[in-house]
Amino acid sequence: MVVRIWVVEAESVEWEARSLLSPAELSRADELGREQVRRMFVTSRAIQRALGAQYLDMPAPEVDISRACFHCSDGGHGKPHFAMGPELDFSVSHTGDVVVIAAATDTKVGLDVELGSHRGEIDEMVRLIASESERRSLATYRGESLRTALFRIWARKEATVKLTGHGILQVPFPALSVDDLVAQIDDPPAGWPDQAIHLTDLALGYGSAALATTAPQPEIDVVKLLRVADLSL
Ligand SMILES: CC(C)(COP(=O)(O)OP(=O)(O)OC[C@H]1O[C@@H](n2cnc3c(N)ncnc32)[C@H](O)[C@@H]1OP(=O)(O)O)[C@@H](O)C(=O)NCCC(=O)NCCS
Repeated sequence: MVVRIWVVEAESVEWEARSLLSPAELSRADELGREQVRRMFVTSRAIQRALGAQYLDMPAPEVDISRACFHCSDGGHGKPHFAMGPELDFSVSHTGDVVVIAAATDTKVGLDVELGSHRGEIDEMVRLIASESERRSLATYRGESLRTALFRIWARKEATVKLTGHGILQVPFPALSVDDLVAQIDDPPAGWPDQAIHLTDLALGYGSAALATTAPQPEIDVVKLLRVADLSL
């Protein structure tokens, strides 16, 4: 069972990426004032469309990507999925100027990359993010190594709630433990999967990154893309 991961730097692909967007996405991109926000939006949506176009064998701008929430009636904040091919599960993360996407057919996936540039007060961050068992293990770290260990936990947790589609609002992070690489949750919210969620730390070269999968020990294939058009399933 293989999880494919593509890494793309938004700055180098923006103009090529625009040609893959739907008309509605192009209008939205043009309304985004900040250049970096627009570039990330265009690149993220283009890479999702390039993946859908390959999988469904259809033109990228026509791929129907649903963002309906599985857990409430909102149409805009759910886990993105291909309306015509939901069996290819994918998950996206953007950080800095980089977009990363993971996809697989034999496992659910959730992906998160945290640059670690958030400079909040560390004790407060530990309180907001770590479970009791994680706090005990974090207490053995100091300084930058504590920050690194905390961002690793953060990336694993965000990957988990991106796999399930719940996002960060429905799952209090201190109720979720990821220190032994299998997610454990107190009092799971409706829609939490019955299967175990396995976590793998990724060395992508950008901060802390984690992949959540319902399949244990996935084979992971990472490709850095110089052009979105080079994406190949
Ligand atoms: C999912 C979430 C953790 C991502 O956080 P973020 O800081 O935007 O992080 P990233 O840059 O790593 O990821 C962004 C990508 O996450 C994906 N995403 C958005 N909502 C998602 C969800 N519910 N589940 C899984 N993935 C989601 C999208 O692909 C998005 O990229 P895109 O908009 O370009 O397609 C955050 O947006 C969230 O918690 N949303 C809340 C969802 C919500 O309101 N839930 C209430 C349910 S009733």
